Amino acid sequence: MTKIIIAIDGYSSSGKSTMARRLASKIQYRYIDTGAMYRAVTYFAMQQGWISSAGEVDEAALSASMPEIVIDFALQTDGSQRTLLNGTDVENEIRRINVSNHVSTIAALPFVRHALVAAQQAMGKQKGIVMDGRDIGTTVFPHAELKIFVTASPQTRAQRRFKEMVEKGSAVSYEDVLANVMHRDHIDETRAESPLRRADDALLLDNSNMTVAEQDQWLLDQYNRVISKLENK
Ligand code: DC
Repeated sequence: MTKIIIAIDGYSSSGKSTMARRLASKIQYRYIDTGAMYRAVTYFAMQQGWISSAGEVDEAALSASMPEIVIDFALQTDGSQRTLLNGTDVENEIRRINVSNHVSTIAALPFVRHALVAAQQAMGKQKGIVMDGRDIGTTVFPHAELKIFVTASPQTRAQRRFKEMVEKGSAVSYEDVLANVMHRDHIDETRAESPLRRADDALLLDNSNMTVAEQDQWLLDQYNRVISKLENK
């Protein structure tokens, strides 16, 4: 069976993780949420007291500790995944707003990106992987057989993230979530190291007005198209 690499990039809360995860489980590929990896490093730095409330990072301390940070994913029986930081389940902690508020700063640090990109490339060696993030189609796997760039309006994305957080019991306001989404877009697009941008050969998907089922079908169609093209060469 032909196995490929599927790179799904896009804005925060664009729904790319949901579609990536669902496709991976349908076609029995491994799914990697690279945003969770940047969040886990952020959480680690916060726990050590290396991020001040003003957002200043003790880069020397974090850089020296990068080799000790091991991030992995535990697959659950229902198909969902839990992020493990040095063996501890930090899935709930890394989704909280205090981590969201600092993650773009951490993700802009070149030494963090180099370490995580290397780990991601190692995970894709055997192919058969769906990876989502910001730079998968541009930097991590520039030769991925299928690249998707997902977008939706900031309001649509903030509404989705707000609903998700309220369901998990966070006391947040929609305005704070929208501000966080817009702030992160700005940092993600303007950072010097691997800024968020669509790869020239990525397919664009604006899912502002699509249901989850419609997105699933669209993505599956793209996957089938690429596989049949490769198999009929
Ligand atoms: O997808 P997310 O919101 O969980 O991502 C968290 C942060 O990590 C986001 O601000 C952008 C950053 N990120 C990145 O820079 N590169 C990636 N491949 C994935 C995420």
